[in-house]
Amino acid sequence: MKFFIDTANLAQIKEAHDLGILDGVTTNPSLMAKEGIKGEDAVMQHYLTICELVDGDVSAEVLSTSVDEIIEEGKKLAAIHPNIVVKVPMIKDGVKALKWFSDNGIKTNCTLVFSAGQAILAAKAGANYVSPFIGRIDDSNWDGVELIKQIAQIYKIQGYKTEILSASIRSPLHIVKCAEAGSDVITSPLEPILGLLKHPLTDLGLAKFLEDAKKMRTELATAK
Ligand code: E4P
Repeated sequence: MKFFIDTANLAQIKEAHDLGILDGVTTNPSLMAKEGIKGEDAVMQHYLTICELVDGDVSAEVLSTSVDEIIEEGKKLAAIHPNIVVKVPMIKDGVKALKWFSDNGIKTNCTLVFSAGQAILAAKAGANYVSPFIGRIDDSNWDGVELIKQIAQIYKIQGYKTEILSASIRSPLHIVKCAEAGSDVITSPLEPILGLLKHPLTDLGLAKFLEDAKKMRTELATAK
């Protein structure tokens, strides 16, 4: 399973990249706004900076909602860097644009997906990635991980090539459950990724190993 980081924050992208496990980045208009990236030029420059930091797919979301405008905007985004993946919302014109991008060799990520039916449409339209938002599904009293399992089963039966990119991750457990459910990729904020590292028995075990090794060294030094 590939690991993407879901942020536009350069320090966090760098921290995940330095861990050596990062395969890509996803952003969205809210995440760009959170970093104070305003205006088309600044946004384009920020995407380029991210692409230069991480050698992997970088999702850049369109703001247009009509097919012709989505295509024009997507072409501009794709021209920034070969690793840009155009992120397109799951709406009727988005599906039409996904098909156009697929026919014209531009990589896409179909975003704002909340049902298996939407995931089937994204795959039929040739999206490279489909992004079900599991945290937001959990928030609305459904089970996000169940949706990942359902999509994984459908894609396997139907032989769809679209990769399942589990998004809206809120916890380390979400990441583990997505791996178990057959997700191809997760995109997560930094905290849940770092949360995977933690176990109290690891900390206690390491403290004991280091203490015993120190005792041994002291005993050796005293014996000399
Ligand atoms: C996906 O690509 C989105 O950027 C993201 O995962 C949305 O997550 P949120 O529900 O935490 O905003």
